[in-house]
Amino acid sequence: MTSATDSSVIIKGVGAYAPSKILTNDDLAKMVDTSDEWIHTRTGIRQRYIAGEQEPTSVMATRAAEAALENAGLEATDIELIIVGTVTPDMPFPSTACLVQKNLQTRKIPAFDIEAACSGFIYVMDVAAAMMRAHGYKHALIIGAEKMSSITNWEDRATCVLFGDGAGAAVLSLDSTPNTGLLKSNLGADGASADILQVPSLEETDPEAAKKDGSPANAIQMQGKEVFKSAVKVMCQSAIDIIADCNLTADDIDLIIPHQANNRIIEALSQRLAVEMERFVINVDRYGNTSAASIPIALSEAYHAGRIKSGDKVLMVAFGGGLTWASALIQWQ
Ligand code: ACO
Repeated sequence: MTSATDSSVIIKGVGAYAPSKILTNDDLAKMVDTSDEWIHTRTGIRQRYIAGEQEPTSVMATRAAEAALENAGLEATDIELIIVGTVTPDMPFPSTACLVQKNLQTRKIPAFDIEAACSGFIYVMDVAAAMMRAHGYKHALIIGAEKMSSITNWEDRATCVLFGDGAGAAVLSLDSTPNTGLLKSNLGADGASADILQVPSLEETDPEAAKKDGSPANAIQMQGKEVFKSAVKVMCQSAIDIIADCNLTADDIDLIIPHQANNRIIEALSQRLAVEMERFVINVDRYGNTSAASIPIALSEAYHAGRIKSGDKVLMVAFGGGLTWASALIQWQ
């Protein structure tokens, strides 16, 4: 009999949720000095979803989790672990994962959040898989969920055009088939570059904007060009390393699900890995950057569009504030 330590960890189900409100580039051009042409040329983004006032991160996370459970054919009571990746929790505590646990009425299982910005979902998957093998948990719910609109300075055209809200989830399950599911993950961080992408007090960084009604207390601040250069460098290296660690080449990878921040970053990744754009999942045009939610939303869309078949090798690769980076290589069961 296979012990939990030797078991594979597979993705049993996926799901996603997007709020109903759509904010287009033309809508944004009425709010700040920008244009659809500028935003689309520089980023690939056409629109993003914006959560309602009564729609915090935990609610979006719950909707995505329900969809993933249904796709997995499991009940909430089957779940033995919940981890949420988010930088926009409803509140400092309880964790978003505990609020999801309450909403889903799971058993009294461990539930907590991980904060690794846009790399969050892969960090969550790595930690969940390790805990499943260590403790023998059969099924875990892993979620990336963000209300980026709640930390956006809507007066700052350099950042407000980039982000959006949403949630994606997956059910991980232990499986006795050897060498399938999550083959490898690799995580990294460089706190020395923390200040190129951060969420400081808006009062300190833009006192005029902070006085406006509805302004967030803290808002995203970014050195765009520095982030761009770092993103390309660390995502490429992380992808190259994990492919080599699995004794594979880029030709063996059927589908790449990159963090959806900017189409030009994905194009640079495509060139450096010599993998054509057709093998990448891209939905940044519709969602903008949803931070930790971006990879699970793209995964769910790719799966439901029939782009992932049994036996496919799927590479996920991300970077985010911290700076953090992460990649995961999965053989679809
Ligand atoms: N509309 C119109 N003009 C704008 C806008 C806007 N929304 N924003 C900036 N500009 C102007 C600037 O003021 C500047 O004007 P100037 O030349 O007169 O000074 C000009 O456009 C060029 O600005 P740059 O910042 O040099 O533009 P760049 O080509 O670098 O593109 C961008 C900016 C899209 C932000 C790019 O740097 C980028 O994508 N960086 C990476 C961002 C990213 O991935 N962030 C996600 C991080 S993930 C996470 O963890 C949250």
